[in-house]
Amino acid sequence: MTVRLSVLGAGYLGITHAACMAHLGHEVVVVDTDPSRVRQLNTGYLPVHEPGLTEFLRDGLSSGRLVFTTSYREAADHGDVHFICVGTPQLPGSDQADLSQVNDCISSLAPLLDRPCVVVGKSTVPVGTAERLAGELARQAPAGGKVELAWNPEFLRESSAIADTLAPDRIVIGVTSVAAEETVRAVYARLLSDGTPLFVTDLATAELAKSAANSFLATKISFINAMAEVCEAAGGDVMVLSDILSADPRIGPAFLRPGLGFGGGCLPKDIRAFMARAAELGAGEALRFLREMDTVNLRCRTRMVEVTCALVGQDLTDVPICVLGAAFKPGSDDVRDSPALDVAQMLQGMGARVTVHDPVALANARRSCPQLRYASSALEAAGGTDVVLLATEWPEFTGLRPDQLARVVAQPNIIDGRNVLDPRLWQDAGWNYRALGAMGRVPDRSSADQN
Ligand code: UGA
Repeated sequence: MTVRLSVLGAGYLGITHAACMAHLGHEVVVVDTDPSRVRQLNTGYLPVHEPGLTEFLRDGLSSGRLVFTTSYREAADHGDVHFICVGTPQLPGSDQADLSQVNDCISSLAPLLDRPCVVVGKSTVPVGTAERLAGELARQAPAGGKVELAWNPEFLRESSAIADTLAPDRIVIGVTSVAAEETVRAVYARLLSDGTPLFVTDLATAELAKSAANSFLATKISFINAMAEVCEAAGGDVMVLSDILSADPRIGPAFLRPGLGFGGGCLPKDIRAFMARAAELGAGEALRFLREMDTVNLRCRTRMVEVTCALVGQDLTDVPICVLGAAFKPGSDDVRDSPALDVAQMLQGMGARVTVHDPVALANARRSCPQLRYASSALEAAGGTDVVLLATEWPEFTGLRPDQLARVVAQPNIIDGRNVLDPRLWQDAGWNYRALGAMGRVPDRSSADQN
């Protein structure tokens, strides 16, 4: 069954959701307030890097089922279901989420809703937001109580956003009526018939599902990075420890890769917003551990700087340093709260001459950190440097050969910030290899490898 739907916000989430919904056969109108972005998207130009999404965008446009506009009126007239997909970044100077885009979206749309429809929130919001927005809709929409609100959090990851949307682990729908549930089910009918698990719940639980999921993922990463610190102090090897923990099916291997920790536009700000909201609700104590997770995560970045100083000396004035990676993770051009760029800036702030390379995030990195130097290849960035920091594990970097890199650097020092290189290979080629979680020695992982 084809559903006429609108998507509010042509950011990363909105474009992906809209293109995937058009792919499922729905008729989709996407609203964004930025006219140049809308023009670009209507000509098939994707303003973000996401594997496969350009093809989905172009297929949607040529099928006629996907249209971008700046007009809320067009969206209101078209849609029986309206998805809120705008951003909820961290409020500057606070842990709280900035809900201004969500609020603007509702105040632009609501007065135009003069027939029954369902407004579905997908943006990550503090619990309680959905109930407040339901009240706003009831007050501001001419159709009043015939406009329903549902919450349907997204769990997609940058770099695998299409698969996460079309073959998700689960679909969560928070509703207050069976009619709204039926409407959202119709949108996802194909995924549900494929056997995707569905959880129908209240609005608060649906909002919490997202905050809790991202908090758990952040906690796993910070747990293994805390173990990395203990390994450094005790002379252990965190990579072997991670493998041992992962072999327990109750723990599992996902999100236990130690290194520079988490960044991006989601995990860091979501755990902070969750703490802030819990405190408002009088449950701040329950989430106090998340503050520690945040601290452990940020400490990964300063530890990387400390390891750099341990290798090349405390005085970094004019020391040439290469940072490989600017994106917060491979497969993405997103540099929001990027550990790689954070480390690069700290080193530059200490007087080093830092050169950064990234295969896709250079333009965004230049915009966000114009004070850094950039090179158009890994070898160019590494040329003449005293130490190479691998900060984002792009295949281009993990595939670098020690002999190839040795020919261009001034000193053969490498810090593996993502624990992805083979330490033996680099050491055998004459490199000083360091990694977070096995400081000061080259780990002997041979016994783990034999198993
Ligand atoms: C994250 C969640 O994984 C998604 O489920 C969620 O929908 C999304 O946030 C969101 O809130 O919209 P994403 O930010 O795209 O997705 O990135 P992840 O793949 O989760 O990686 C986050 C960070 O953790 C990256 O910086 C990555 O390098 C780091 N990481 C990941 C580790 O340091 N170690 C690991 O073992 C795994």
